[in-house]
Amino acid sequence: MTHSDRPTAQKTPLEARSSGPLTGKVRVPGDKSISHRALILGALAVGQTRISGLLEGEDVLNTAQSMRALGAKVERTGDFAWSVHGVGVAGFATPQVPLDFGNSGTGCRLVMGAVAGCPITAVFDGDASLRSRPMRRILDPLELMGAKASASAEGGRLPLTLNGARDPLPIVYRTPVASAQIKSAVLLAGLAAPGITTVIEAEASRDHTELMLKHFGAEIVSDKEGAHGRKISLTGQPELHGADVVVPADPSSAAFPIVAALIVEGSDVILTDVMTNPLRTGLFTTLREMGASIEESHVRGDAGEPMAQLRVRGSNLRGVEVPPERAPSMIDEYLVLAIAASYAEGTTIMRGLQELRVKESDRLEATAAMLRVNGVKAEISGNDLIVEGKGHVDGGGTVATHMDHRIAMSALVMGLASDKPVKVDDTAFIATSFPDFIPMMRGLGAEFS
Ligand code: S3P
Repeated sequence: MTHSDRPTAQKTPLEARSSGPLTGKVRVPGDKSISHRALILGALAVGQTRISGLLEGEDVLNTAQSMRALGAKVERTGDFAWSVHGVGVAGFATPQVPLDFGNSGTGCRLVMGAVAGCPITAVFDGDASLRSRPMRRILDPLELMGAKASASAEGGRLPLTLNGARDPLPIVYRTPVASAQIKSAVLLAGLAAPGITTVIEAEASRDHTELMLKHFGAEIVSDKEGAHGRKISLTGQPELHGADVVVPADPSSAAFPIVAALIVEGSDVILTDVMTNPLRTGLFTTLREMGASIEESHVRGDAGEPMAQLRVRGSNLRGVEVPPERAPSMIDEYLVLAIAASYAEGTTIMRGLQELRVKESDRLEATAAMLRVNGVKAEISGNDLIVEGKGHVDGGGTVATHMDHRIAMSALVMGLASDKPVKVDDTAFIATSFPDFIPMMRGLGAEFS
């Protein structure tokens, strides 16, 4: 993927160095996927939705802003507490300004789905990273439902104008790749269609949209399809009622302090309220297979989303093979898994990573580059990533962030146990998903300067 990078003068570099044992108890911010969905469903519901624990990162704040532009009343009522008064299914108004999603593929693609079912016109835009990401995968099903997109860039990339359908059609859609964003866009458009909209996926992707639609009063059924897939059927034109949503801590953000605690000898870190939806916990499964000490307690749930407290202790890790069918349940975690694999003894093979090429950056290339510049042997073979762990990492490299929050956080975690410090060229994008990452990690004992 190519996108223009930020000028060097605007970048905020940081260096991580070998740190003493990490200790303490933290709650990482609210889950990003659930935060976007709570705002969007709140905006499509009748009555008030009260959200606690919302992730107040840039990605989610852009979604909040877009819901306001579409006619919902969205207010911050306290720390991480938000209230949304919605307009009802198909009730969005034509926004007077372009909807700017910044760095967020999820916000942009889910809102495209919600807009596609309304008889309005909206302009979608984002930063250089988001402008370089494929949108055809979302626009194809939405056009089958009656929406019309016009983009001047090739591949339907941003900026683009979306004309929602006056009379949206329910469809049966097989997603071409395992993607919760595609599935969710179709379901959100299907809310406005009469009859049943069905999405079939060969590999199950995260099911937060389905769980939350149910929580807001929609009729939605999910059945098994094949060995790893799902068939989801939504009855259109429901009345969604505002609901209370408690956002659990984001397992994709928890991944960074977890891997940090595993690789820094003697660490003992507790993470509270971490969401443990099985469609999000592939990283935890993999780390346990590698020998990680991750203990779960205080298991509870809210609105269908399970959560638990995790206690993580410094562990000797060994290389493993990660099967391709696990990818959807840990798609955002391969960068930081590659850090764990670098500190493990032996080879880790991660299979079926083609989707990593179309994330905030080309994460397959970026992960290999991050490891190599720090003395770790990493090879890309087709869609697989192979990392040769030797139990320790040389470090000493500067990692290019490519406007990607997870590269920045992974590289900083890597430097906490390496022989020489690891530098990242730009930490600014960490604010998209984990605004307090640097102070929270320092609080656990991480040395950043
Ligand atoms: C997300 C889905 C995933 C993931 C992203 C969040 C979601 O993307 O990478 O960070 O909230 O639906 P894909 O659906 O494109 O795999």
